[in-house]
Amino acid sequence: MTVDTVLYNGKIFVNGKLLEAGIAINEEKIYRIAKTPNLPQASRKMNLDGKIVIPGLIDVHVHLRDEGKAYKEDFHTGTLAAAAGGVTTVLDMPNNRPITMDIYTLKERMRLTRGRIFVNVGFYSAFPENSMEIPLLVKEGVIGFKLFLNAQIGGINVENDETLLEMLQTLSRAGVPLAVHAEDKRLIEKKKEELQKMGRHDFQAYIEAHPPKAEEKAVKRMVELTKKTDAQVHFCHVSSEKGLEVVRKAKNDGLLVTCEVTPHHLLLSAEDLEEYGAFAVTTPSLRTKQNVEALWKGLKNGWVDILASDHAPHSIKEKTANSIWKIKPGISGIETFLPLMLNEVNSGRLTLEELVKLTSENPAKVFQLKFRGLLKEGFYADLTIIDIHAEYRIDASKFYSKAKYSPFNGWRIKGKPIKTFVNGELVMEDGEITAKPHTGKLVRRGYP
Ligand code: DOR
Ligand code: ZN
Repeated sequence: MTVDTVLYNGKIFVNGKLLEAGIAINEEKIYRIAKTPNLPQASRKMNLDGKIVIPGLIDVHVHLRDEGKAYKEDFHTGTLAAAAGGVTTVLDMPNNRPITMDIYTLKERMRLTRGRIFVNVGFYSAFPENSMEIPLLVKEGVIGFKLFLNAQIGGINVENDETLLEMLQTLSRAGVPLAVHAEDKRLIEKKKEELQKMGRHDFQAYIEAHPPKAEEKAVKRMVELTKKTDAQVHFCHVSSEKGLEVVRKAKNDGLLVTCEVTPHHLLLSAEDLEEYGAFAVTTPSLRTKQNVEALWKGLKNGWVDILASDHAPHSIKEKTANSIWKIKPGISGIETFLPLMLNEVNSGRLTLEELVKLTSENPAKVFQLKFRGLLKEGFYADLTIIDIHAEYRIDASKFYSKAKYSPFNGWRIKGKPIKTFVNGELVMEDGEITAKPHTGKLVRRGYP
């Protein structure tokens, strides 16, 4: 048998360990993982020179935008950026224009990806006005639903507990997870108003307007509602010690609850916002060092399930508005996600095993992405090849994303994604894009 591609002479991440071996790829899938001499014949062979192969990253929190927000990012540039960063699957958030929140907007988004995606894309939906649409959205393959407790996005009133409970019950029946942005809308609005009345418009005022209390309150509220159902609830970008503590307790109580943290909440802190400037303005906002340490502790203790970028691109004009209250929150993070985390592996704060769990294995499990998230025979050949020793500086002006800025610009990094394979095709090599934009597939819940 002659397979499509053989990658030989590598270090392959299998079952938590690096095997000196190679990978044979055939028809989009991993055909065999074996010692180099035992690999089959192939039409194309590639010597990995001892480099490490990990499962392609699954980034469960990405704002790909497009449509009415295409000036910030679109399917083409967002998935290029993903491939460049070693990410092979992204899950797209629904706060777009129009909002993904009914069968029409979802189908339209899916249609627009045709011939325009370099990596795999799955979609979240916001809540439709009419709950009868939920089963239709599920049938169409949404990966999950997204609830913003910090803003009114989607068709249901986020202030009303009864409505939220009904929605959780519906999702629990459908067996689909809910991803929650847990920050209390009222508390933030109140703080913001007070600070604005005082004439405050400095970076610290922004931090004060988004207190950890707002997160803790919203996580608690959601956990209490979850207790009354069997719903699966995933907390997005948990950023505070107290918020994480509530999640940990909920897990201990046996609830089907998971959470993610972002690289920026692990690596930047509120004390330094002045220095990082507007490019680090995000929600939830950066936190004090004490909170940052608590996130690391949670990550090391296994309370954190997923690392995700929360790639939230905006135009440079939106990021450099002259008032803190006008700056659009969000970090252009998908191209720095893996490099920053590999740097942490090199500095000894994170093991490669932890990294792979948090960026591929667990995302695939939590969102039930079939045949992805592991290097395993029969699974899709979504692979990221890394040079763990490469040293360089982050240069945001070279991003593939339309949002060519970053609070990490200029940071010295050790560890780099050097090749990305999506469904068996080489998409990125040494920072260059080597494929046409048809390598990505739509990932739909329940479909292989
Ligand atoms: O910083 C953020 N940016 N937080 C959000 O919740 C939304 C996001 C965006 O879409 O820009
Ligand atoms: Zn987000």
